[in-house]
Amino acid sequence: MSIPVTLIPGDGIGPEVVNAAVEAIEAAGAKLDWERAAAGAGAVPTHGTPIPAETLESIRRNKLALKGPLATPIGEGYRSANVALRKEFDLYANVRPARSFAGVETRYSGVDLVVIRENTQGLYSGVEHYVDDERSAAETISIITRKGSERIIEYAFKYVKRNKRRRLTLVHKANILKATSGLFLDTGRALAAKHPDVEFKEIIVDNCAMQLVKNPNQFDVLVTTNLFGDILSDLTSGLIGGLGLTAGANIGRDAAIFEAVHGTAPDIAGKGISNPTAVMLAGVMLLEHIGERTAAERLATAVREAIASKEAITPDLGGSATTRMFTSAVLKRLK
Ligand code: NAI
Repeated sequence: MSIPVTLIPGDGIGPEVVNAAVEAIEAAGAKLDWERAAAGAGAVPTHGTPIPAETLESIRRNKLALKGPLATPIGEGYRSANVALRKEFDLYANVRPARSFAGVETRYSGVDLVVIRENTQGLYSGVEHYVDDERSAAETISIITRKGSERIIEYAFKYVKRNKRRRLTLVHKANILKATSGLFLDTGRALAAKHPDVEFKEIIVDNCAMQLVKNPNQFDVLVTTNLFGDILSDLTSGLIGGLGLTAGANIGRDAAIFEAVHGTAPDIAGKGISNPTAVMLAGVMLLEHIGERTAAERLATAVREAIASKEAITPDLGGSATTRMFTSAVLKRLK
């Protein structure tokens, strides 16, 4: 029986990379029943909102979505549809792995990191305003709760064990943000005592950024609050070759949304040269999530082999292939 999945093509390069990923996921042998749904800037003219009610209903029903990037106006306009979806479905765990690719030249080899980011609280809580009509000052409130910290850090400990990883590093700024980051750190220390079988370390975020650039292989799995996780996971993407290569899962108790870490890439949208790897690997994470291990493995191997062969790599990786040519190189390996 096919498993229903909500499919959100999204904005900018979204439709081209998502369609490429769907072809590859199907070629890998997974039986999924795609339910297309609109969201993002493209949904505003047709539905009057970046998150139409039917899209929310579809995700609520299927509990599973594959999503392309959604454009968010910068500094004005509606709030991020991504943040809204994460809040609506309480997708508290954002899991962003970054593993080196054979054939992609980067400063370091053998990078294998996972950033686990708290996805609903902190500075992304959406509590912000200008203090007066002249907009002479503004404030944003960071909300961190013990319960919210417990569930993400507990998720991270379980992730380490389930995936047979080595170590969990909690990233914080409790020296300055003594209450919010302090609460997150205290919660982590308390949970570490309950998981003596996992090596637990803590590090201040600025030092972590520097250490990641200097010697990434000293880290394994990192757990942190919303904003730090957002920034550090782009850094870890950069370590393995860029945003075209990294996928993320947004996991909640009742639903999960899989996506690329990258955005709508307006600079290359419409040119047919975007790299669909990130969304294909989001597909791999989705397949693993629903227990389709064989299809997940086949797809991950095909993508990695297609990149390693360099026969059709996209410009972000130094090649000149189109999205279509790279997709064909992946599909060929799945036949
Ligand atoms: P971006 O990720 O769209 O682009 C950053 C750079 O990476 C650009 O040079 C772009 O060409 C390149 N890039 C990204 N994905 C690529 C791919 N698949 N293949 C080749 N090159 C790729 O980030 P930016 O420019 O900061 O954001 C643009 C828009 O995307 C904004 O509206 C932002 O809000 C939205 N966004 C949405 C996200 C989501 O839906 N999850 C995540 C990040 C940004």
